[in-house]
Amino acid sequence: MQKRLLGASNIEASVIGLGTWAIGGWMWGGTDEKESVAAIHAAIDAGINLIDTAPAYGFGLSEEIVGRAIAGRRDKVVLATKCGMVWHCKKGNLFFNSDKGNITKGSGQYQVHRYLGRESIRYEVEQSLRRLKVDCIDLYQTHWQDPTTPIAETMAELMRLKEEGKIRAIGVSNATPEEMGRYCAAGQLDSDQEKYSMLDRGADKRNLPFTLEKGVAFLAYSPLAKGLLTGAIGPDRVFNKDDQRLSDPRFSAESRRRVAAMLEAFRPIASGHGITLGQLAIAWTIRQPGCTHALIGARNAGQASENAAAGAVKLGAADLAAIDRAIAGFQAA
Ligand SMILES: NC(=O)c1ccc[n+]([C@@H]2O[C@H](COP(=O)([O-])OP(=O)(O)OC[C@H]3O[C@@H](n4cnc5c(N)ncnc54)[C@H](OP(=O)(O)O)[C@@H]3O)[C@@H](O)[C@H]2O)c1
Repeated sequence: MQKRLLGASNIEASVIGLGTWAIGGWMWGGTDEKESVAAIHAAIDAGINLIDTAPAYGFGLSEEIVGRAIAGRRDKVVLATKCGMVWHCKKGNLFFNSDKGNITKGSGQYQVHRYLGRESIRYEVEQSLRRLKVDCIDLYQTHWQDPTTPIAETMAELMRLKEEGKIRAIGVSNATPEEMGRYCAAGQLDSDQEKYSMLDRGADKRNLPFTLEKGVAFLAYSPLAKGLLTGAIGPDRVFNKDDQRLSDPRFSAESRRRVAAMLEAFRPIASGHGITLGQLAIAWTIRQPGCTHALIGARNAGQASENAAAGAVKLGAADLAAIDRAIAGFQAA
């Protein structure tokens, strides 16, 4: 498995990372801990060292499952988690209400705020270290940006945590280039995590030019468009209650049909390489200029091993051009 540096840190992280949002169950229709632990073990066995989680993924559950799964394998893992989506206080900016399963329209058990004040970051890092059962987090990322706290204050606290050895590198997520500029002015920003896939190309013009210029790592999230690009979500796939895809227009019958038509164009390329459509989507993602890592969610060992194997796929220039033509055709239609 190829590894790339996380920005200017000396941390080498596998180009394919394991994302553990679905493993927390929240917004994904629940989770099965045994299958989730098997997925994490399969990912590590296949050479993935980058594992991304967050407190919000199941209100602590994803971090707890990751912590149990990596016990005894800590040295094989670059552990990434996040701060800034909080439910322990009502400071900052109300993001949404939620219950254990999903975001709610009205009130819910959790009032989630975007908050990155210094005392809250300090509280959150201790909670994450406890749930993950580690004494240091390799990459600590601000999950969503808080419009109420100056970035200089947030970054100063993150830099202090780094000096204290509680974290090793600092990243952002869901940040604009302008916000990233303010992080860079106040300390060392090593990574940016942003939605990016064949269907989500906004970062090409927004974040990627910035990260490329500054030498910041770019971690693509949802690179399989939440499973759609694997071709496994046909017209008959039914989602569980609390699976966000149930009400997402991207998973409507019409959208599935359009995506399936685009995927047809990829089939000859995938079969030429002896790979699945999902592996093709992952291999394409990590070939995009500036996209240094791709975080792929997996719910079981089979998915994790299949996704990891995409790290060995070498798409040629003709393959990439044919894929890009099909994506452009999809966008134009
Ligand atoms: N920073 C942020 O705000 C943010 C936001 C979103 C995601 N992320 C990070 O990025 C990671 C990845 O994104 P994501 O989980 O949203 O979506 P994704 O990686 O695009 O898709 C993951 C889903 O696709 C399906 N899948 C995965 N591998 C498969 C395979 N080989 N064959 C068939 N189906 C497969 C699984 O769902 P089913 O089996 O249920 O279909 C899985 O849960 C997250 O886990 C998280 O770490 C961060």
